[in-house]
Amino acid sequence: MERQHSSRSLCSNLFFLSLLISSNLLTFYLFSSSSSSATSESTTSCPPYSITAANNEPPPTATGATTDLAPEFLEFASPHPFPFGKNPNSGEDHLYSPAGHPCTLFPDHLNRFMSYTVNGSCPDDELIAQRLLLKGCEPLPRRRCRAAAPNDYVEPYPLPVSLWSTPSDHSLVWTAYACKNYSCLINRKYQKSFDDCKDCFDLAGREKARWTSSESRGLDFSIDEVLATSKPGSIRIGLDIGGGVGSFAVRMRERNVTIVTTSMNLNGPFNNFIASRGVVPMYLSISQRLPFFDNTLDIVHSMHILSNWIPTKVLHFLLFDVYRVLRPGGLFWLDHFFCVGEQLEEEYRPVIESVGFKKAKWVVGRKLDRGPERKEMYLSALLEKPLKNSW
Ligand SMILES: *[C@@H]1O[C@H](CO)[C@@H](O)[C@H](O)[C@H]1NC(C)=O
Ligand SMILES: *[C@@H]1O[C@H](CO)[C@@H](O)[C@H](O)[C@H]1NC(C)=O
Ligand SMILES: *[C@@H]1O[C@H](CO)[C@@H](O)[C@H](O)[C@H]1NC(C)=O
Repeated sequence: MERQHSSRSLCSNLFFLSLLISSNLLTFYLFSSSSSSATSESTTSCPPYSITAANNEPPPTATGATTDLAPEFLEFASPHPFPFGKNPNSGEDHLYSPAGHPCTLFPDHLNRFMSYTVNGSCPDDELIAQRLLLKGCEPLPRRRCRAAAPNDYVEPYPLPVSLWSTPSDHSLVWTAYACKNYSCLINRKYQKSFDDCKDCFDLAGREKARWTSSESRGLDFSIDEVLATSKPGSIRIGLDIGGGVGSFAVRMRERNVTIVTTSMNLNGPFNNFIASRGVVPMYLSISQRLPFFDNTLDIVHSMHILSNWIPTKVLHFLLFDVYRVLRPGGLFWLDHFFCVGEQLEEEYRPVIESVGFKKAKWVVGRKLDRGPERKEMYLSALLEKPLKNSW
């Protein structure tokens, strides 16, 4: 980018940088450049890491940048030279900050998301952020602004009370949701309009009984029977994909198992609620590569979310990713996978089987809540990554 050439001449030696630091000018340059970059190519810009930008070729922009993208996005996504030259770990002399490559396919949303005052308050735009993310712009680019927090913030309850308590209405910002308080969310099971996870926020209701039944009832496995398939204590850490309000993680915590729960905030503050309960939420859609290393997790669970709404090829990649992050002997509990009629045998069984799990349990049943004529099916399976990889 243009500004890197100009900044290079301006800040080409360490001496100048130390001058800047000692005179506190650096902060000024940093912020003046970022706020002015919205209107013009800044010639006074001095990014703090530009001192060793010694190579002659300006590196390509990470985005194939076009000028109609918000300056703050270009600022974020442009290559940033390392202060000490080539980084031995990456072998590069620039750092490229990631944003999902589909981000630039949606410049209107992206530009709205990336238009804000640097060092100011972020716009109240959770809906745009989530919409962008669900379009595949994941990870979202980072921003240099402060997200809104409630003025009269109330801290979570202490453990263990927090695990099964409804948090204060003053623990989050409600603007993105139809409901403006928790009693509304708890009562939405009585409303007609469709919402995902409609009765999840009612911790005294159905949520309380999930996975606790001591005997297996067909599609509903209990946590205890699943844990009993492995050596005591050997299931310690794991992931719940699309875990609603985090009750699976809470139940596992009661058994000393640490579970991270991914969730979106679809018309409800799911991530805030999970965190208030005292388990870890992760704001991640089903599209993104799981942020865990190969062969590390003891268990991956997912209920209701992995289903026929997901493009089959995407599902295939996803299942291989689950296989990747599970350690040998790790468990994949596919809980109430949902599809219609012959889809299960013709399409999904081959896809699931192709990944290479061993089947510990495989239960197929009818899904009748919307009427038998729809021929809806559920699959609940307990799958195990083999100890010895046969591929
Ligand atoms: C950034 O914002 C903070 C908090 O509003 C303020 O104290 C600080 O002076 C600002 N810094 C700059 C460089 O504008
Ligand atoms: C919660 O919100 C509903 C409607 O959104 C409102 O009718 C109700 O009075 C609110 N309850 C509390 C306790 O604020
Ligand atoms: C969980 O760990 C605590 C402390 O180590 C222990 O006292 C408790 O019995 C464990 N609970 C279960 C269900 O294993």
